[in-house]
Order: sequence, then structure tokens, then C-alpha cells
Amino acid sequence: QPKKQDVMIDVHELLRKFYHHLLVNTKQGQEALEYLYQRGFTDDTIEEFQIGYAPGGWDKSLKFLTGRGYEEPLLTQLGLIIRREDGTYFDRFRDRIMFPIYNDKGNTVAFSGRMFKEGEPKYLNSPETVLFQKSQLLYNFHRSRPSIRKKQTAVLFEGFADCISAYRAGVTNGVATMGTALTDNHIQLLKRNAERIVLCFDSDDAGKEAVLKAGEMIQRAGLTVEVALVPDGKDPDEYIRKHGPEKFMHEVIDGRQTFMAFKMEKFRIGKNLEIEGERLAYIEKVLTEISLLQSPIEKEMYLRRLADEFALSFDSLKQQERQISYQMK
Ligand code: UTP
Ligand code: MN
Ligand code: MN
Ligand code: MN
Ligand code: MN
Repeated sequence: QPKKQDVMIDVHELLRKFYHHLLVNTKQGQEALEYLYQRGFTDDTIEEFQIGYAPGGWDKSLKFLTGRGYEEPLLTQLGLIIRREDGTYFDRFRDRIMFPIYNDKGNTVAFSGRMFKEGEPKYLNSPETVLFQKSQLLYNFHRSRPSIRKKQTAVLFEGFADCISAYRAGVTNGVATMGTALTDNHIQLLKRNAERIVLCFDSDDAGKEAVLKAGEMIQRAGLTVEVALVPDGKDPDEYIRKHGPEKFMHEVIDGRQTFMAFKMEKFRIGKNLEIEGERLAYIEKVLTEISLLQSPIEKEMYLRRLADEFALSFDSLKQQERQISYQMK
């Protein structure tokens, strides 16, 4: 008798193929396919990421799966169908574009369904199950792991649409969280494969705050953090669509900055450094950040930068940085 988890994976694999078939080969999926084309998805991408279409109606997936011998209690446990009060069932995913979510072995363990018409929520995910834990899983990790290892670098996106777009543009080492905050589990997973993480989040205020938070966590775990933000407040996918993949690779990915440089820029916002008090507060803030850096070379680099910028002596900055380090211990 096969193990229950294997059966659970079989269900997802079967459903992935069903959804993909409906999207690429049937009239039912045509509108969804047109939406994807209009967003710049190509047939190659749709194939590679096994994107699909969950049919409208209330029980198409349910009928398909029970017709293949899978029973309602199992399907309910997987969150693929939902039980009504009267004991009947309906499909969780209806009339949505379906993105299969793979575990690190490349097995389909969950789905995220995007609405492409009117309605909420924009993305509907599978619930947490024994197969799928959002705090442990990174979208695209099974596909990008070889490249992450080779480059010793992972690029982390906020949205998996960004991850897919960037992959097509040439970012083969990209991953994304599943709409949750980054966890220490995610970081440990990446740390086993890379020494550096590039944060490529949405460049709105929320995205920048998320960079600060994620960056601190990653730095604390002993990894190098870099930041690649698109310049115009958009997300990476929108940027790629507007400016093309070459410009994304060149301006955003190659143009990435260190986490420290990102923070220095961020601390400046809304400050008038002409005013002595604000200048001092800024310098102290930056010194505190410098004291958190692991690498002595990096420390020296930013101390020099600060010394040059404000015409201060390197030694006095160094001395103050030491004091701050000492106080924080
Ligand atoms: P975004 O709103 O930035 O989505 O959410 P996106 O990736 O740009 O998607 P498109 O381009 O509109 O298609 C970022 C991530 O947050 C999660 C998803 O994982 C998404 O990739 N999310 C977002 C949800 O889980 N549910 C939602 O309703 C919205
Ligand atoms: Mn196919
Ligand atoms: Mn966003
Ligand atoms: Mn986005
Ligand atoms: Mn987007």
C-alpha cells in the first residue's frame, strides 16, 4: 500500500496536468491563456512553470478527482475541495489561473490560483497541509537550486510572478516567499546553498520596509545581503514588461547595492543634513549600522565613505564606532 503522503502528491501531480491541459488545449482555458499572453507570458514559460487553468463551475475538479478514485475526505484535507454544511463539497479553485507550487524535490504540493477577472482575493493559495508549509517553502527553489549553488547567490522576490518574469529575463537563481514574511527556516534553507542573498522586492514603501526587515534577519544569520530595487516604484515583473529583460538584468540586477548603502540612502530620506543636529544624528545612526557589520573590510569601507562625505577624520569615526560596538555587547 502506498504511503499517504505519496498519494497526496499524486493528487497534486494529476491536478497540475489537468489544469495545464485545460489552459493550453481547451476552449475553457482560452480567456485565461489570453490574459497570460497579454501579460507577456510565453508558451515556453507556461510549459516550464506548468501554469494551468482551474475550470469555473463548482465541482469540475472534484468530479475529475473522484472519477480517478480519490475520495472526498482526502481532498478536503488537502484543501482542494471544501465541505458545505449539508455535507456536499465544492472546488476551492474555480475559474483561476493556476500556479503549481513544488517542494524541493520538484513534487507538486500546493497551488496558487490567480483571479484574472473581477473579484477577491487576487491570489488564493492552498491551505497549510502536511505537504505545504509556507514558512518552510520557497517558490521555485527546486528549479533554481543548482544555479543558486553555482553562483553562491539567491535572488529573493516578493511575488512569484516576479520570480517567473525574472527567470525568463535570465535570473535562474530566483526564489519567492508565498505571500508570507521571510522566516528563519527560509534563511537556513538558502544558507545551505549560498553565501549571498539579493533582495529584489517591490519598490513601494511596503517593499522597502520589507527589505529592511528581511535584510536584518539575513545579516544576523551571517549571510551577505544586497538590494536590487527597480527604480520606479513598480515590481520587478512590471519593470521587465515595461523596459525589457536586458535593461532589468543590467540596471536592476547588476546595479544592485549593498544592504548598508541601501540603509544609508533610506536614513537620509526626510532629513536635512545641512542642519548640524540632523547631520550628527544621521552619522550616529550609520555608525550603529556599521558596528553591526561582520566584515572588518566592509566596516573600514563605510567608515571611509562617511569620513570623506562629512569631512571627518577616519580615526574619530572609528573610535566612535568601537564605542558603539562595545556598548551594544
Ligand atoms: P503582489 O500583490 O505584489 O502580487 O503580492 P504580484 O506578484 O505583483 O502579482 P501580479 O503581478 O498582480 O499577478 C506578492 C505576493 O503576495 C502573495 C502572493 O504570493 C504574491 O506573489 N499574495 C498576494 C497572496 O497570497 N494573495 C493575494 O491576494 C495577493
Ligand atoms: Mn504542456
Ligand atoms: Mn507589493
Ligand atoms: Mn507585486
Ligand atoms: Mn506584479
